[in-house]
Amino acid sequence: MAETTHLIGLLLGTEEDWPRAFETLISRLGTITDDSGHRHRIATERITIEPFDLRDRPRYELVIDRLAYWYYVPREWLKKVALMNDVYLLNSPFTFQSMEKHAAYCAMIRLGLKVPPTVLVPHKDPPDNSRFQYTAARYNQPFDLAAIAEQIGYPLFMKPYDGGQWIGVSRVRNARELERAYDASGQRIMHLQASVEGFDVFARSLSIGPETMVMKFRPDRPMHERYEVAHDFLTPELGDEVLTISRLVNAFFRWEFNSCECLVRGEEVHPIDYANASPDVALTSLHYYFPWAIKTLVKWCTFCLVTGRRPRLDLDTRSYFEIGDRDDLGYAEKLAAYRRLVDDYFEADRYHDFCASRLAHVDELVLDWVDSGDFDRLLVETVRATYPAHEQERFVAHLRGLVGQWVNEPRPDGVPGPTDAERSEAQS
Ligand SMILES: Nc1ncnc2c1ncn2[C@@H]1O[C@H](COP(=O)(O)OP(=O)(O)O)[C@@H](O)[C@H]1O
Ligand SMILES: [Mg+2]
Repeated sequence: MAETTHLIGLLLGTEEDWPRAFETLISRLGTITDDSGHRHRIATERITIEPFDLRDRPRYELVIDRLAYWYYVPREWLKKVALMNDVYLLNSPFTFQSMEKHAAYCAMIRLGLKVPPTVLVPHKDPPDNSRFQYTAARYNQPFDLAAIAEQIGYPLFMKPYDGGQWIGVSRVRNARELERAYDASGQRIMHLQASVEGFDVFARSLSIGPETMVMKFRPDRPMHERYEVAHDFLTPELGDEVLTISRLVNAFFRWEFNSCECLVRGEEVHPIDYANASPDVALTSLHYYFPWAIKTLVKWCTFCLVTGRRPRLDLDTRSYFEIGDRDDLGYAEKLAAYRRLVDDYFEADRYHDFCASRLAHVDELVLDWVDSGDFDRLLVETVRATYPAHEQERFVAHLRGLVGQWVNEPRPDGVPGPTDAERSEAQS
């Protein structure tokens, strides 16, 4: 019987935890047989960085990239393999390079989502460009920052238009703080954004292909406590709305591995942050949710490779805007219409059928491994690499407790498989 081996390339920075988990699970996946009886194996390899001929043929069929957002040699290599060799990328550097948070805000506002009022202001300090002074003197309109802020209302958030990791983000309560924050912003281009005050839930969702885990997030806690293990913290309707928004942003920009932040106040969902080229999947922050994340990454990559899913570099913005621009549709109707486009883009039905028929063993495989000494070693080594010596014991116990909770979670019908939380969050 014919057999094909598909190679996944990992483009990594400093992370060791999830890559090792991913490599281990892929190596235990075994052979997957497709509908025609053809057998498939998946292998992984870490990609090294070196000169490359633009005509080289890469050995990888799919690349998970965690580096190219910051490091431009691999970024340009990714563009080459996407354009020339149809390599499947999580994620596309094309849209991540040009469509940062600001572009996502713009698209989502046009699609009718409840992005808080947001104004972009020119940078405080001039860029290092000798011609700028001339251009600025001629074309830059003076503006009254305080008046813009008054219009938005205090408190507001000042944050980089392309931000990440909370760098340069400040909550501004009055004109004095406004001035200070703007002075500190230097050459960065900033948004002023109305604050969603007194929200009930900060929902941070991680999406991988057509699956999404909506998690309750506590931004004011230390990193290891930010994701609370909580279920049913949103009504089914609000949960579904958050999930649709997260997948909508992804399908729109062809992002397949991304996190999205929504602030839920009363019945209203306000998306505030949704372009994370390299979403957090660290064991130390995701803890209980870590097995779900790695398992889903394994399933989605396997689905793409075995079914020969074609990577899409083109955007299909027009189909979304045709819905967003309609006056005869309300918000909920638009979301439902986007959802059909999104499910279609991610081949949601085909993916879930594939998981049920070809990857039925994966849930048990992951459960067994996460319950093993091998996983525990990874946990201990990750803690050692992350925390100072005097904190390690406490963090090992903390993570063992939370991961143990996932392992021992009651599963429907008692058989290994998704937990109730995974079922409701991931598959609705
Ligand atoms: N409009 C807003 N209303 C309330 N809180 C906000 C708002 N914008 C940002 N924040 C807070 O600031 C944090 C960082 O802002 P965010 O846009 O997520 O930037 P980053 O891309 O750096 O994560 C958010 O996690 C949230 O706690
Ligand atoms: Mg954020």
